[in-house]
Amino acid sequence: MQPNDLPKDLIAPGEVWLVGAGPGDPDLLTRKAEKLIAAAEIVFYDALVGPGVLDLIPAGVERVSVGKRSGRHSKAQESINDLLLAAAKAGRRVVRLKGGDPSVFGRSAEEMEHLASDGVRFRICPGITTASAAAASGSASLTLRGVARGLTLVTAHLKAGEPLKLDWEALARPGGTLGIYMGRAAAGEISRNLIAAGRDAETPVMVAVNVSLPNERLIRGKLSALAFLVATISDEDPTLLLIGEAVAGTHCPAEIAAGEVIAF
Ligand SMILES: C[S@@+](CC[C@H](N)C(=O)[O-])C[C@H]1O[C@@H](n2cnc3c(N)ncnc32)[C@H](O)[C@@H]1O
Repeated sequence: MQPNDLPKDLIAPGEVWLVGAGPGDPDLLTRKAEKLIAAAEIVFYDALVGPGVLDLIPAGVERVSVGKRSGRHSKAQESINDLLLAAAKAGRRVVRLKGGDPSVFGRSAEEMEHLASDGVRFRICPGITTASAAAASGSASLTLRGVARGLTLVTAHLKAGEPLKLDWEALARPGGTLGIYMGRAAAGEISRNLIAAGRDAETPVMVAVNVSLPNERLIRGKLSALAFLVATISDEDPTLLLIGEAVAGTHCPAEIAAGEVIAF
Protein backbone atom coordinates (compact mmCIF):
# COMPACT_ATOMS: atom_id res chain seq x y z
CA MET A 1 0.00 0.00 0.00
CA GLN A 2 1.39 3.43 -0.94
CA PRO A 3 1.44 6.13 1.77
CA ASN A 4 -1.09 8.23 -0.17
CA ASP A 5 -3.51 5.32 -0.24
CA LEU A 6 -3.64 4.95 3.52
CA PRO A 7 -7.33 4.58 4.34
CA LYS A 8 -7.37 7.13 7.18
CA ASP A 9 -11.13 7.52 6.83
CA LEU A 10 -11.68 3.97 8.02
CA ILE A 11 -11.33 5.35 11.55
CA ALA A 12 -13.11 8.56 12.45
CA PRO A 13 -11.24 11.02 14.65
CA GLY A 14 -12.08 10.17 18.26
CA GLU A 15 -13.11 6.62 17.40
CA VAL A 16 -11.63 3.41 18.84
CA TRP A 17 -11.34 0.13 16.96
CA LEU A 18 -10.75 -3.05 18.97
CA VAL A 19 -8.84 -5.15 16.47
CA GLY A 20 -8.12 -8.88 16.62
CA ALA A 21 -4.45 -9.46 15.80
CA GLY A 22 -4.75 -13.24 15.53
CA PRO A 23 -2.34 -15.71 17.16
CA GLY A 24 0.89 -14.09 15.96
CA ASP A 25 1.57 -14.77 12.27
CA PRO A 26 0.83 -11.52 10.40
CA ASP A 27 -0.52 -13.57 7.49
CA LEU A 28 -3.36 -14.62 9.79
CA LEU A 29 -4.59 -11.03 10.13
CA THR A 30 -7.80 -10.12 8.37
CA ARG A 31 -7.46 -7.66 5.51
CA LYS A 32 -9.58 -5.25 7.50
CA ALA A 33 -7.26 -5.45 10.50
CA GLU A 34 -4.32 -4.58 8.26
CA LYS A 35 -6.17 -1.57 6.84
CA LEU A 36 -7.13 -0.39 10.32
CA ILE A 37 -3.52 -0.64 11.49
CA ALA A 38 -2.53 1.49 8.50
CA ALA A 39 -5.23 4.04 9.33
CA ALA A 40 -4.44 4.49 13.02
CA GLU A 41 -2.78 7.50 14.62
CA ILE A 42 -2.08 5.60 17.82
CA VAL A 43 -1.96 1.85 18.48
CA PHE A 44 -2.25 0.27 21.91
CA TYR A 45 -1.13 -3.36 21.85
CA ASP A 46 -0.98 -6.42 24.09
CA ALA A 47 2.08 -8.54 24.89
CA LEU A 48 0.84 -11.43 22.75
CA VAL A 49 0.49 -9.43 19.55
CA GLY A 50 3.06 -10.97 17.18
CA PRO A 51 6.20 -9.02 16.23
CA GLY A 52 5.31 -9.39 12.53
CA VAL A 53 1.97 -7.72 13.20
CA LEU A 54 3.64 -4.83 15.03
CA ASP A 55 5.94 -4.39 12.03
CA LEU A 56 2.86 -3.41 10.02
CA ILE A 57 2.33 -0.29 12.13
CA PRO A 58 3.50 2.56 9.88
CA ALA A 59 6.53 4.58 10.94
CA GLY A 60 5.45 7.72 12.74
CA VAL A 61 2.34 6.14 14.26
CA GLU A 62 2.52 6.20 18.04
CA ARG A 63 2.62 2.70 19.55
CA VAL A 64 1.91 2.01 23.19
CA SER A 65 2.55 -1.35 24.84
CA VAL A 66 -0.11 -2.15 27.38
CA GLY A 67 1.10 -5.73 27.60
CA LYS A 68 -0.43 -7.99 30.16
CA ARG A 69 1.09 -11.39 30.67
CA SER A 70 0.00 -13.91 33.21
CA GLY A 71 1.43 -13.01 36.61
CA ARG A 72 3.10 -9.83 35.26
CA HIS A 73 0.43 -7.22 34.75
CA SER A 74 2.43 -4.30 33.45
CA LYS A 75 -0.68 -2.12 33.31
CA ALA A 76 -3.90 -2.62 35.20
CA GLN A 77 -7.03 -2.94 33.06
CA GLU A 78 -8.37 0.31 34.54
CA SER A 79 -5.38 2.30 33.31
CA ILE A 80 -5.70 0.74 29.84
CA ASN A 81 -9.35 1.82 29.79
CA ASP A 82 -8.32 5.35 30.77
CA LEU A 83 -5.56 5.53 28.14
CA LEU A 84 -7.98 4.50 25.38
CA LEU A 85 -10.53 7.02 26.54
CA ALA A 86 -8.00 9.85 26.76
CA ALA A 87 -6.69 9.17 23.24
CA ALA A 88 -10.20 9.11 21.82
CA LYS A 89 -11.20 12.26 23.68
CA ALA A 90 -8.15 13.97 22.19
CA GLY A 91 -9.69 13.28 18.77
CA ARG A 92 -7.18 10.65 17.68
CA ARG A 93 -7.87 7.64 15.46
CA VAL A 94 -7.29 4.78 17.88
CA VAL A 95 -6.55 1.10 17.32
CA ARG A 96 -6.52 -1.26 20.26
CA LEU A 97 -4.73 -4.41 19.05
CA LYS A 98 -5.54 -7.59 20.92
CA GLY A 99 -4.06 -11.05 20.46
CA GLY A 100 -6.38 -13.58 18.84
CA ASP A 101 -10.01 -12.48 18.80
CA PRO A 102 -11.01 -9.55 21.03
CA SER A 103 -14.15 -11.38 22.18
CA VAL A 104 -12.29 -14.41 23.56
CA PHE A 105 -10.78 -13.79 26.99
CA GLY A 106 -9.72 -10.36 25.81
CA ARG A 107 -11.43 -8.15 28.41
CA SER A 108 -12.87 -6.19 25.53
CA ALA A 109 -16.23 -5.83 27.30
CA GLU A 110 -14.62 -3.70 30.01
CA GLU A 111 -12.98 -1.46 27.44
CA MET A 112 -16.20 -1.09 25.46
CA GLU A 113 -18.19 -0.26 28.58
CA HIS A 114 -15.67 2.35 29.68
CA LEU A 115 -15.64 4.03 26.27
CA ALA A 116 -19.42 3.93 25.92
CA SER A 117 -19.92 5.41 29.39
CA ASP A 118 -18.19 8.55 28.10
CA GLY A 119 -19.94 8.57 24.74
CA VAL A 120 -16.90 7.39 22.76
CA ARG A 121 -17.72 5.42 19.62
CA PHE A 122 -16.01 2.06 19.25
CA ARG A 123 -16.10 -0.78 16.76
CA ILE A 124 -14.68 -4.28 16.63
CA CYS A 125 -12.70 -6.14 13.99
CA PRO A 126 -12.66 -9.88 14.78
CA GLY A 127 -9.52 -11.99 14.68
CA ILE A 128 -8.57 -15.64 14.53
CA THR A 129 -8.66 -17.06 18.01
CA THR A 130 -5.85 -19.36 19.13
CA ALA A 131 -8.04 -22.48 19.31
CA SER A 132 -8.84 -22.20 15.59
CA ALA A 133 -5.23 -21.52 14.66
CA ALA A 134 -3.96 -24.38 16.85
CA ALA A 135 -6.37 -26.83 15.25
CA ALA A 136 -5.22 -25.67 11.84
CA SER A 137 -1.55 -26.09 12.76
CA GLY A 138 -2.27 -29.62 14.01
CA SER A 139 -4.39 -30.51 10.99
CA ALA A 140 -7.21 -31.27 13.38
CA SER A 141 -10.84 -30.24 13.53
CA LEU A 142 -12.30 -28.73 16.70
CA THR A 143 -15.61 -30.43 16.05
CA LEU A 144 -16.04 -33.77 14.37
CA ARG A 145 -19.22 -35.29 13.03
CA GLY A 146 -20.42 -38.05 15.34
CA VAL A 147 -17.46 -37.57 17.70
CA ALA A 148 -17.31 -33.99 18.98
CA ARG A 149 -20.61 -32.16 18.74
CA GLY A 150 -19.52 -29.11 20.68
CA LEU A 151 -16.62 -26.85 21.54
CA THR A 152 -16.12 -25.25 24.94
CA LEU A 153 -13.58 -22.47 25.42
CA VAL A 154 -12.47 -22.06 29.03
CA THR A 155 -9.92 -19.95 30.83
CA ALA A 156 -7.93 -21.68 33.54
CA HIS A 157 -6.12 -18.55 34.69
CA LEU A 158 -5.08 -19.16 38.29
CA LYS A 159 -5.44 -16.46 40.90
CA ALA A 160 -2.58 -16.67 43.41
CA GLY A 161 -3.38 -19.20 46.13
CA GLU A 162 -6.86 -20.03 44.83
CA PRO A 163 -7.95 -23.39 43.42
CA LEU A 164 -9.50 -23.49 39.96
CA LYS A 165 -13.25 -23.17 40.17
CA LEU A 166 -14.66 -24.78 37.03
CA ASP A 167 -17.71 -26.93 36.45
CA TRP A 168 -15.69 -30.14 36.09
CA GLU A 169 -18.73 -32.38 35.59
CA ALA A 170 -19.92 -30.31 32.66
CA LEU A 171 -16.43 -30.12 31.17
CA ALA A 172 -15.85 -33.86 31.58
CA ARG A 173 -18.87 -34.86 29.48
CA PRO A 174 -17.71 -36.83 26.47
CA GLY A 175 -18.61 -35.78 22.95
CA GLY A 176 -17.02 -32.35 22.92
CA THR A 177 -13.70 -30.57 22.57
CA LEU A 178 -12.24 -28.33 25.27
CA GLY A 179 -10.03 -25.39 24.38
CA ILE A 180 -8.32 -24.26 27.55
CA TYR A 181 -6.63 -20.85 27.49
CA MET A 182 -4.08 -19.86 30.15
CA GLY A 183 -4.09 -23.46 31.40
CA ARG A 184 -0.42 -24.45 31.38
CA ALA A 185 0.25 -23.77 35.07
CA ALA A 186 -2.90 -25.65 36.06
CA ALA A 187 -2.40 -28.58 33.68
CA GLY A 188 -2.03 -31.19 36.44
CA GLU A 189 -5.10 -29.90 38.27
CA ILE A 190 -7.11 -29.85 35.03
CA SER A 191 -6.15 -33.42 34.21
CA ARG A 192 -6.93 -34.75 37.71
CA ASN A 193 -10.26 -32.95 37.96
CA LEU A 194 -11.48 -33.97 34.51
CA ILE A 195 -10.60 -37.62 35.11
CA ALA A 196 -12.17 -37.55 38.59
CA ALA A 197 -15.33 -36.11 37.02
CA GLY A 198 -15.50 -38.98 34.53
CA ARG A 199 -13.51 -37.97 31.44
CA ASP A 200 -11.55 -40.92 30.05
CA ALA A 201 -7.88 -40.77 31.07
CA GLU A 202 -6.99 -41.84 27.51
CA THR A 203 -8.67 -38.80 25.94
CA PRO A 204 -6.32 -37.29 23.34
CA VAL A 205 -4.82 -33.88 24.07
CA MET A 206 -2.82 -31.45 22.01
CA VAL A 207 -0.72 -28.81 23.73
CA ALA A 208 -0.12 -25.93 21.34
CA VAL A 209 2.71 -23.52 22.13
CA ASN A 210 3.50 -20.25 20.31
CA VAL A 211 0.87 -21.11 17.74
CA SER A 212 1.57 -19.75 14.23
CA LEU A 213 4.96 -18.31 15.22
CA PRO A 214 8.32 -19.64 13.99
CA ASN A 215 8.90 -21.35 17.37
CA GLU A 216 5.52 -23.11 17.38
CA ARG A 217 5.38 -26.51 19.12
CA LEU A 218 2.55 -29.03 19.10
CA ILE A 219 2.77 -31.76 21.71
CA ARG A 220 0.32 -34.63 21.62
CA GLY A 221 -0.48 -37.18 24.28
CA LYS A 222 -3.32 -38.27 26.52
CA LEU A 223 -5.22 -36.56 29.31
CA SER A 224 -3.62 -38.51 32.17
CA ALA A 225 -0.18 -37.24 31.02
CA LEU A 226 -1.11 -33.58 30.65
CA ALA A 227 1.18 -32.38 33.46
CA PHE A 228 4.14 -34.14 31.80
CA LEU A 229 3.28 -32.78 28.38
CA VAL A 230 3.60 -29.19 29.57
CA ALA A 231 6.63 -29.77 31.80
CA THR A 232 9.19 -28.31 29.38
CA ILE A 233 7.18 -25.22 28.44
CA SER A 234 8.40 -21.96 29.93
CA ASP A 235 6.22 -19.30 31.57
CA GLU A 236 7.04 -17.00 28.65
CA ASP A 237 5.49 -19.21 25.99
CA PRO A 238 1.76 -18.77 25.35
CA THR A 239 0.12 -22.18 25.51
CA LEU A 240 -3.29 -23.54 24.64
CA LEU A 241 -4.59 -26.95 25.71
CA LEU A 242 -6.96 -28.78 23.37
CA ILE A 243 -8.65 -31.85 24.85
CA GLY A 244 -10.95 -34.29 23.10
CA GLU A 245 -11.20 -37.10 20.59
CA ALA A 246 -11.42 -34.68 17.66
CA VAL A 247 -7.92 -33.30 18.20
CA ALA A 248 -6.22 -36.69 18.02
CA GLY A 249 -5.10 -35.75 14.53
CA THR A 250 -5.72 -39.17 13.08
CA HIS A 251 -7.79 -37.69 10.29
CA CYS A 252 -4.91 -36.45 8.20
CA PRO A 253 -1.59 -37.77 6.86
CA ALA A 254 0.55 -38.97 9.77
CA GLU A 255 3.52 -36.74 9.00
CA ILE A 256 1.33 -33.63 9.30
CA ALA A 257 -0.60 -34.78 12.35
CA ALA A 258 2.34 -35.92 14.39
CA GLY A 259 3.82 -32.73 15.87
CA GLU A 260 5.70 -33.86 18.93
CA VAL A 261 4.11 -37.04 20.24
CA ILE A 262 4.65 -37.92 23.85
CA ALA A 263 2.94 -41.05 25.10
CA PHE A 264 2.68 -41.89 28.78
C1 LIG B 1 -5.66 -13.33 27.53
S1 LIG B 1 -5.82 -14.78 26.55
C2 LIG B 1 -6.20 -14.03 25.02
C3 LIG B 1 -6.80 -14.98 24.02
C4 LIG B 1 -6.98 -14.35 22.67
N1 LIG B 1 -7.96 -13.27 22.72
C5 LIG B 1 -7.42 -15.35 21.59
O1 LIG B 1 -8.52 -15.22 21.04
O2 LIG B 1 -6.64 -16.26 21.28
C6 LIG B 1 -4.14 -15.24 26.39
C7 LIG B 1 -3.99 -16.74 26.25
O3 LIG B 1 -4.35 -17.14 24.94
C8 LIG B 1 -3.54 -18.23 24.54
N2 LIG B 1 -2.70 -17.79 23.41
C9 LIG B 1 -2.69 -16.59 22.82
N3 LIG B 1 -1.83 -16.58 21.77
C10 LIG B 1 -1.31 -17.83 21.71
C11 LIG B 1 -0.37 -18.46 20.83
N4 LIG B 1 0.17 -17.83 19.79
N5 LIG B 1 -0.06 -19.76 21.08
C12 LIG B 1 -0.61 -20.45 22.09
N6 LIG B 1 -1.51 -19.90 22.95
C13 LIG B 1 -1.85 -18.61 22.76
C14 LIG B 1 -2.68 -18.60 25.75
O4 LIG B 1 -3.38 -19.53 26.53
C15 LIG B 1 -2.58 -17.25 26.44
O5 LIG B 1 -2.22 -17.39 27.79
